[in-house]
Amino acid sequence: MKVLSTVIELQTLLRKMHLSPLGFVPTMGALHEGHLSLAESAVKQCPVVVVSIFVNPTQFNDKNDLKNYPRTLDSDLELLKKVLRKTDLVFNPDVKEIYPGEDKREFHFGNLDNVMEALHRPGHFNGVAQVVSRLFDIVKPDIAIFGLKDFQQLAVIKALVKQTGNKVRIIGNPIIREPDGLAMSSRNRLLDPEIRNHAPIIYKTISAVTLMIKNYDIRQIKSLVANSINNIPGFQVEYFDIVDDIELIPLNTKDEMKKDKRYFGCIAVQAGKIRLIDNIEIGLD
Ligand code: PAJ
Repeated sequence: MKVLSTVIELQTLLRKMHLSPLGFVPTMGALHEGHLSLAESAVKQCPVVVVSIFVNPTQFNDKNDLKNYPRTLDSDLELLKKVLRKTDLVFNPDVKEIYPGEDKREFHFGNLDNVMEALHRPGHFNGVAQVVSRLFDIVKPDIAIFGLKDFQQLAVIKALVKQTGNKVRIIGNPIIREPDGLAMSSRNRLLDPEIRNHAPIIYKTISAVTLMIKNYDIRQIKSLVANSINNIPGFQVEYFDIVDDIELIPLNTKDEMKKDKRYFGCIAVQAGKIRLIDNIEIGLD
């Protein structure tokens, strides 16, 4: 694989190769098997793949989170070498390359701006939309692969592509988990050991919801989820909502579930100093 840090270098090489479909996997680095699974699936589908590593300042609503975000470029490149081919590209630009001037664009995503992550991380999805639209303009991929781990982000990106008329095909890939069930995340390495030991409770609890949905109503389920997790010292549920995968409208009752839609239980938990998110598909049968 080749590692490039400027738009010019990247575009010159892509133009020379002229292969399609061109696959793209955007990341912020601190790579783990979740990221690698996306790169692997891009390699299977595309003769040339670009993986970007860029910690995007505009999507961090918390300055400390940006400062503490893990940056592990050397080991990221070692990991990518195992998955990417000689002809694939890693794009690792600096901030000036992506934002030559301040990005003042404002995006609006309807209900997606009014639920779950959007309420707890104001401005976050605007920053994600800024960087992803900029990266799409630079890379011009035919296919872009994202993880279902960031469920609302995937919905926002699908809405962004629809709004901008971009022809890129957006694919959502499954969540990769640690053996104990914790969803892999770059932030997991920042968890205190005691908190890390208890963190599998999050997936255990939302997995139980797939069964609870048969016998309990949604209000009861929400309080069972909160109680089971808040019981553990250092853990606090921010929200647990069951939403459809397009507009992300939170269900109040099971009667609102429609046969032709898919629903996911989405959770955010403050675990010590670190905020963790996870989700699982919920069906009535
Ligand atoms: P980052 O958190 O690095 O994630 C990059 C991609 O990896 C996202 O599509 C995310 O959903 C996916 N991913 C993370 N953990 C995963 C897991 N356990 N299993 C499967 N996929 C997983 O998401 C971002 O970066 C940024 O917001 C970005 C889209 C790059 C824009 O800056």
